[in-house]
This record gives sequence, structure tokens and C-alpha cells, in this order.
Amino acid sequence: MKFTADRLLLFGATGDLSQRMLLPSLCALDADGLLGPDVRIIGTARSPMNDAEFRNFARAALEKFLPADRRGSLASFLNRLSYQGLDATSLEGFDDLAKKVGTPAQGLAIFLSTAPSLFEPTIRGLQHAGLDGPNVRMCLEKPLGTNLDSSCEINDAVSAAFPEERIFRIDHYLGKETVQNLLALRFANILFEPLWNAAHIDHVQITVAETVGLEGRVAFYDDAGALRDMVQNHMLQLLALVAMEPPSNFDATAIRDEKVKVLRSLRQVTQSETVTGQYRAGAISGQAVPGYDDELGKDSDTETFVAIKAHVDNWRWKGVPFYLRTGKRLPKRVTEIVVQFRCVPHSIFADKGAKMTPNRLVIGIQPEENISLSLMAKVPGLDRDGIRLRSVPLDIAMRDAFTGAVRRIAYERLLLDLVEGDQTLFVRRDEVEAQWEWVDRIRALWDAQNLEPKTYTAGSWGPSAAIALAERDGVTWHE
Ligand code: BG6
Repeated sequence: MKFTADRLLLFGATGDLSQRMLLPSLCALDADGLLGPDVRIIGTARSPMNDAEFRNFARAALEKFLPADRRGSLASFLNRLSYQGLDATSLEGFDDLAKKVGTPAQGLAIFLSTAPSLFEPTIRGLQHAGLDGPNVRMCLEKPLGTNLDSSCEINDAVSAAFPEERIFRIDHYLGKETVQNLLALRFANILFEPLWNAAHIDHVQITVAETVGLEGRVAFYDDAGALRDMVQNHMLQLLALVAMEPPSNFDATAIRDEKVKVLRSLRQVTQSETVTGQYRAGAISGQAVPGYDDELGKDSDTETFVAIKAHVDNWRWKGVPFYLRTGKRLPKRVTEIVVQFRCVPHSIFADKGAKMTPNRLVIGIQPEENISLSLMAKVPGLDRDGIRLRSVPLDIAMRDAFTGAVRRIAYERLLLDLVEGDQTLFVRRDEVEAQWEWVDRIRALWDAQNLEPKTYTAGSWGPSAAIALAERDGVTWHE
């Protein structure tokens, strides 16, 4: 059923995600006139608060996390907000919550940003209070479980009340402009697609490097680790977008059908194809930072860094490694995809002494959004001592190419799609399960070997074994 929701119910409304992302994104959408005049936002969480207190709470979050020039009329946004305290583990409070939500004219979108342990009781409560009808959508924020079994449990619980076409699973990387631009780059240009295969691509690198450490998420992160926190979702989604076949159109089913085929084609990795690490005290941008165990206050064998050599076992990608790496406390914050093309099959310049460097496409996702393609060019001169060639970049800085375009928070796009019911940038159940299947096998491999992460100094690019993982194949990580 197609409807634009006019009620938005936020579970976990006082949490970190709500303060940093959800409330700021909704406020920015409101400021741009993208929320209908009747849209009401109801926050709920365990703490008791009245509407006025919640509005004050929201105001403080907006002043902290949303730049002033994107806030619009704060008062009119705050007027959309109300609040109902709730203990989601007991059915009792859900009737009052339903009263607070009232009867939407069009429909209700529910955003669950709570601990996964609360998902099941929350769904039961929503069913009990009749907040699960055909005009209700359910949006789920990660983590969706810690392995395939627990993810299936959550998905089963949710699907008992909501059919898949009304379930919206967030992977906020899909809301990032440059991630969507990957599709434009691949499928709106004739240039790349004919070369986008094993015959012309040597390897792909995907890096998601962060400078932050634990950021106070002690319990969550130590149970999760980098593989579950970053690879299972964001990195595999990036890989799927790079590797998928062209969908027939830009719609939820076509795109997700192609992504899931890639995820299911991931080859099981072997021990020598993964490296894990954990940071020790070091320095980031000249600032001393403590080690993971110091931040945590105890010893732990949770990985804060992982590098993997992955393979997509299908016709297109036969023999093309996908090197993935992600970690906390690395030297800089950067998310990028590097597509390394092969050498030309024959160099006509070889006997003129010219050295060739194969073309390389670098897609910068953050912090800078840019696309850079290295091309070979002749160094100007009379070439009396032979021809000299040099690799020169063809650069597109998205910010310059689209000056004046608003740089939006990924959640703005996703929340708007949720309200309007477009699932294209949300993850389907079969994708999540294929991601977990692959990741679970890696974890089982580590457990079987009692693998302990290697240490690396905060501010470095991870353990030296990660460099060796690529260098063994003659590949250097792009830095
Ligand atoms: C989250 C992870 O999903 O993504 C965090 O749980 C991580 O650990 C964050 O820091 C990174 O997101 P972004 O948008 O800052 O790259």
C-alpha cells in the first residue's frame, strides 16, 4: 500500500543516534519544506518526560548537532514533536502510546533505534496496541543481531507483524550521496561498464578508516568488533554496489535482486585471507590517544581492525580480489573505493623506454566526495632520449562540480524515503542473511584457530600483516 506517513514514531528517541542524526535530519527536512504540514513526530524511550521536556531535549540536540543555517524555524519543527515514556518490555504502556500517536490520516512510520533485545517485546506491544496495521511501516536500525541465527530471530519477530514490503532496514551508508553516485558512475556512463570485469580490472580495494576509538560504546563495541560492526553491513553493501550486474531499472526490487546475487557469490575466505588487529596507545594528528584495552578498562580479544581478501565467485569477477579493510584509530578518516585496472595488453612505447602505470579509479566517499581517474599522458618534450609517460589524474571534486547543492546527512534521505515508502536504499532480508552467512564463517574460522588480534599503534594503518596481505599479491594499499 502506497502512502506518505504523517506520523513518525521514534523508539530510542533520547538515544545517541536520535540526538546526533535522527532529530537533526528531521529538522533539516522540515527546514527545506520536505515534511508535509501534518507530519507529527512522537518520541518514546524509557525515561519519563513530558512534551515540553522532550522539545527542550530536542532543541539542545539540534543546537549541538545541526548547523544553524540548516535549522530553519526551530520552533515550527519542535511543535511537531511530542513524547510518551514507555517501558517496552511490558505491554502496559503501549495503549497510552497508541493514544499519543492517535489516528494518522495516511499512515505511520515507526523507527526502532533501540537495543535489539527490545525488538521482540516492542513488536508484541505494537501488535497489542493495534499499531501494526496495513498503513504502518517498520524501520529497523542496526545492529540486527550478532550472527545469522540472532538476525533470523529478529527478522522472524518483525515479519510476524509486518510483511517485507513494509520493513525498512537501515544501512546508513546507502544514504550517503557518493554511495548512490557509484550507481550513476557505473550505469550512467558508457565508459566504465564494458571494462568493469575480470578482463580489465586487476583488483578492487575498499577502505573504511576511522580515527575515532570506542566513543563510549564500550559494551556494544566489545561484543561486536570491526567485522560485525562495519564489514557485515557497510562494507559488504559497498562491495555489492561495485560488483553487481546492471539492474534493469532504479527500483527497490531490481537493485536488491542484483546486490543479493553478489552477496551470495562471496567465496568463503581462508585463514590467510584475513588479518585482525587491535589498537594500542599512539597518536592521531599529534594527539596522544589510549589503547583499546585502556579505554575498555580490561583485556579483550575484540578486533578493532580487519583486513580481508575477498572473492566474488562469478563469471564477471573470476580471479579479481576485493581487498577490504576497516579499523578504528587509523591515521585519517577516509572511506574510498579503488578500482585498479589492468595494464594495456601491449605497450607500443616499450622500446622507447616508457614505463606504463595501469589506470586507477578512486572513488572518495568521505570526508571528501571526489572521483579521480588516473590516465597515462606523455611528458611534454622532444623525446630525444626516449618517450616519457606519466600517470596524471582526471579529478572531479563533487563539491566544486555541484556548488550550491546541499550536503545532506545520510539519514535525511533515508528518513524521507521511509516516510514516502521507497525501499530502494534499504536492505532486504535476504541481503542481511547472505551478509551474516559470510561473516559467520569468518568468525567460525577465527574461533577455530583461537585467533587473537595483532596489535597496532593508534595512528598507524593497522598491523603490518594487513600490508603483507596485499603485498603478497603485488598490491599496495592506496593511502
Ligand atoms: C556505524 C558503526 O554503523 O558506522 C560505527 O557502528 C562507525 O562504529 C560508524 O563509527 C561509521 O559511520 P560514518 O558514517 O561515520 O562513516
